[in-house]
Amino acid sequence: MTQLSAAPTGTSVPPGSGKTLYGGKGTRRITVRDIALAKERGEKWPMLTAYDAMTASVFDEAGIPVMLVGDSAGNCHLGYETTVPVTLDEMAVLSAAVVRGTSRALIVADLPFGSYQEGPVQALRSATRLVKEAGVGAVKLEGGERSHRQIELLVESGIPVMAHIGLTPQSVNAMGYRVQGRGEEAAQQLLRDAKSVQDAGAFAVVLELVPAELAAEVTRTLHVPTVGIGAGAGTDAQVLVWTDMLGLTGGRVPKFVKQYANLREVMGGAAKAFAEDVVGGTFPQEEHSVH
Ligand code: KIV
Repeated sequence: MTQLSAAPTGTSVPPGSGKTLYGGKGTRRITVRDIALAKERGEKWPMLTAYDAMTASVFDEAGIPVMLVGDSAGNCHLGYETTVPVTLDEMAVLSAAVVRGTSRALIVADLPFGSYQEGPVQALRSATRLVKEAGVGAVKLEGGERSHRQIELLVESGIPVMAHIGLTPQSVNAMGYRVQGRGEEAAQQLLRDAKSVQDAGAFAVVLELVPAELAAEVTRTLHVPTVGIGAGAGTDAQVLVWTDMLGLTGGRVPKFVKQYANLREVMGGAAKAFAEDVVGGTFPQEEHSVH
């Protein structure tokens, strides 16, 4: 990790490259204070998931300011069907790898299902592991009003928390994968959830699969940044799951995903070319041999 050089108090300039959170190499890690200042400037910023050191290093070099070691690792990296089976041990290993692969991005790690629902003390024990063992700068947990007390204790204990409301995939067995916040009552509940996690001290709030107008209203209402996924263009930040964004995920991807590359095709094509070279005896050539 590069050395921290504290930004002068009151400055609105984040580390490194200039005037924005996005871009460039910094001399220290981005902090939650930098994130708060970006909201004051009205600056939008990108977040990507990462589950391993090499991928994380690519995104760090590309200037992505915040990386989420999401429990989407369950479906996108570990081969589970949902995020529900992911364990704290698995999150600790993946998070430590992402921290080792980066020097600038703020690394946020998900608290997996079952590691904080019992109450604030369990949440603190779990989050402390990710901060101490893996070295992450913040944790994320799902739930609005129902997670208020957990967030409060973590923040009081010095652990920055990103909240996650709207569709919360850890509750798939109870709520399925459906748009949240549709209709007056559900919209009012989402607003209450957003205010509750802000009051508890969350430094940012993920809004997943929420109508765009409602996400924009939440963003105007809160003084902490909102991070949208399937929540329209009105949020302060946007997050995508990296394997979706780069076209590595097999099968159907959600409508809200924009694919910026087709890594599945590139990797599959390269693997076939290698196999054909080996079978046909055209690899290795003399230049690949040692004598
Ligand atoms: O686990 C994850 O990747 C997430 C994002 C979808 C926000 O929670």
